[in-house]
Amino acid sequence: HHGDTVVPQVNSGLFINPLKIPKTVSGNTSLVAQNTTEALMSSSKVSVLGYGEGILGPTIRVKNGENVNINLVNKLSDHTNIHWHGLKIPADMDGHPDQMVMPNETFNYKFKVNQQAGTNWYHPHLHESTAEQVTLGLAGLFIVESDEEKALGLPKDSQEIPLIIQDKRIKADGSINYQPTMKEIMTGYLGENILVNGTSKPFLDVSTRFYRLRILNASSARIYNLALSNKAEFYLIGSDGGLLFQPEPVRNVLISTGERVDILVDFSLAKVGEVVFLKSEPFFTMGNAQGNQPFDIMAFHVKSQATDTFKLPNSLLNFSKLSASTNIRSFTLTMDHMAKEGMHKINNKIYKSNRIDETVVLGSVETWDFDNSIGDEAHPMHIHGANFQLVSRMGGRNAIFPHEKAWKDTVLVGPGEKVRVMIKFEIKGKFVLHCHNLEHEDDGMMLNFEVK
Ligand code: C2O
Ligand code: CU
Repeated sequence: HHGDTVVPQVNSGLFINPLKIPKTVSGNTSLVAQNTTEALMSSSKVSVLGYGEGILGPTIRVKNGENVNINLVNKLSDHTNIHWHGLKIPADMDGHPDQMVMPNETFNYKFKVNQQAGTNWYHPHLHESTAEQVTLGLAGLFIVESDEEKALGLPKDSQEIPLIIQDKRIKADGSINYQPTMKEIMTGYLGENILVNGTSKPFLDVSTRFYRLRILNASSARIYNLALSNKAEFYLIGSDGGLLFQPEPVRNVLISTGERVDILVDFSLAKVGEVVFLKSEPFFTMGNAQGNQPFDIMAFHVKSQATDTFKLPNSLLNFSKLSASTNIRSFTLTMDHMAKEGMHKINNKIYKSNRIDETVVLGSVETWDFDNSIGDEAHPMHIHGANFQLVSRMGGRNAIFPHEKAWKDTVLVGPGEKVRVMIKFEIKGKFVLHCHNLEHEDDGMMLNFEVK
């Protein structure tokens, strides 16, 4: 049993580096996966991976209905690909682990965006090397906008801030160390340094008004229990699959890997001169005890007075609740210490690329149970090619949380929990279901389903 082993503590320090903001590009662009450099922990540059110059990739911003045409140019010495996490697009564009782009090759991703406004993201998706490529720097945001959302008048431009949160272990030379130990393959890689948009110990100057923070947890395994250091309430307005019915006032939100939360923070509750930290508070301990330590993630310097004309809307998006389902499937999540191949299994199997584990009828709504009731690790379960709604969470935390009341594509199934979701399958083809703890995913905690 590894439940009570000590985990590396997050490094403390002063928040003195201006937050980097990835540049924004349209849906007609090239992403060049390459070895590049970045000033990560100090002013000296170290080698990282990126989709251009510097770590990470640009934020792609499109409107619902737009045609996307993106070339992935692979300048790495290894194969790669792109999965558009959260986008509902044809299977042959989804970045299934089968769809590899070899070194010096280019792949053209072409699809029409057909979904509501929301914060999605993109990253490589190769069986057995997803964690390494993401941790070394390959990830970016993909934001979908719509007229319905625009009509809400949410904070935008310099009041709309993307935050990609990742943890990294750093080598003596300042570069990223991705060499998970045997124990980390079991529980997940936890870095001692928390970076936001590739910035270590970042700060951002704000004024006394509402800001919209689009937050992505792009870590391999680390879960954050986000809160503000002044204990102020903030408003959840969206999650993985877009906006909630209405703003939900909360004081904390637990975000596991792959999940997104869209929040509004009212900095007029602070005074000019104050520093407010976005932090992670302790939470129920997971299999690797990572929830024990509180730490700061970034600082907001409340720099200037502003008159804010923004009014929090009463309602956001009116979407229908799924109810009638045709079929129930159950997925038991287990960890087998003695296994010869992967230790993490779904229904007692590890991933095989040419095996179709489940077949689903196109257009159907199904009920899927992710059953971790005998497990002692946390599994953020993610499904490609469809969105779902939470029905229940039994055992463990025994609740559905405010950010889980929107359309979702990733849900945290904590130790002892059984989470039931309803899924609408609207796209045909072969997709994967997997744990978004990237060490678990690479270890084989993934399966194929085919919609036909
Ligand atoms: Cu973000 Cu299948 O992954
Ligand atoms: Cu897992």
